[in-house]
Amino acid sequence: MSGAELVLDGLARRYGATVAVDRVDLAVAPGELVALLGPSGCGKTTTLRMVAGFVEPSAGRVRLRGLDITTLPAHRRDAGMVFQSYALFPHLSVAENIAFGLRRRGVGRAEITERVGRMIDLLQLTGLQDRLPRQLSGGQQQRVAVGRALVIRPAVVLLDEPFSNLDALLREGTRIELRRLQTELGLTTLFVTHDQAEAMAISDRIAVMHKGRLEQLGTPREVYDHPATRFVAGFIGRANLFEVMTHAAGGQVSEDGINLNGPCAATLVLRPERISLDEAEPGPANAARGTVEVVSFLGTGVQLILRLAGGRALMVEGPAALADRFRPGSPATARWHAEDLISIPAR
Ligand SMILES: Nc1ncnc2c1ncn2[C@@H]1O[C@H](COP(=O)(O)OP(=O)(O)OP(=O)(O)O)[C@@H](O)[C@H]1O
Ligand SMILES: [Mg+2]
Repeated sequence: MSGAELVLDGLARRYGATVAVDRVDLAVAPGELVALLGPSGCGKTTTLRMVAGFVEPSAGRVRLRGLDITTLPAHRRDAGMVFQSYALFPHLSVAENIAFGLRRRGVGRAEITERVGRMIDLLQLTGLQDRLPRQLSGGQQQRVAVGRALVIRPAVVLLDEPFSNLDALLREGTRIELRRLQTELGLTTLFVTHDQAEAMAISDRIAVMHKGRLEQLGTPREVYDHPATRFVAGFIGRANLFEVMTHAAGGQVSEDGINLNGPCAATLVLRPERISLDEAEPGPANAARGTVEVVSFLGTGVQLILRLAGGRALMVEGPAALADRFRPGSPATARWHAEDLISIPAR
């Protein structure tokens, strides 16, 4: 990407026989927030630490503002980082921790007070500024670490699961604040999380990682509506997955008219909220009859597990009123539209 602020070019890291990160290419635009999303062990932290300069890449380059920083020591990179284990200075107060980077950069006293004060307000740390890290809860320490990284307004902010110790409510509030601050200051940000809802809520784009590789890069809508792989479909949101083999009646015909008559394997994805339920008989296609097995209340609606005649389970989500019509043991017909089936080609 031309004009990208941060570029990862074929970035890789092995530990002996383990390939922790496998040739990741990623370009982050100025002011953009990209989430690195994936399950435990997929290489998120290793990727971030290579960008920060704490892990040496086995291959590939890192460029920041057009400058190759691959071999630059960590302290000379213009990056603000929050580690997975937030690493605050134990002997410094909350305010001193946040002010640390500004002092080192020679920012004036009045400006430090102003910027640190604002960060303390935004991160809801008011009243705690004189405490030491050991006098704070884990969630409060995490917010101090976020403040310390953002306050210096670095060329790139690197956040590794910065909200993992916050309870659900505080986590939602803090991520909205972070997003507001990041947008307002135009901070180019890489945000590591294994929480797909968090990635969807906060990012401009999501980089989905799996076993060290970048499986898909796209906006939250793109990865949800058009997952590129079976893994992405299952990891982002909830999904019913069908393996299909299409044998068209006359076989398949290629562009130049050759009848191939071969199988066309694919995975079809059907999101649970795209399925409706009723009591009528199913038609010939895109409907299936079964028995309701489980009804779970989700808060915003309900989720039902429908056991189909053939044995497989179908996940259905809809408004809470569905729970009045369908209970465990109720027969039901599931229906969906052909255009709601997302096709993932076999690879
Ligand atoms: N210093 C190391 N020595 C050996 N193997 C390592 C080292 N650091 C990471 N790994 C391995 O590299 C892989 C990726 O690890 P990494 O910490 O990047 O994962 P992660 O995606 O951040 O996971 P989590 O969500 O659990 O934090 C894992 O298999 C891990 O065991
Ligand atoms: Mg990690």
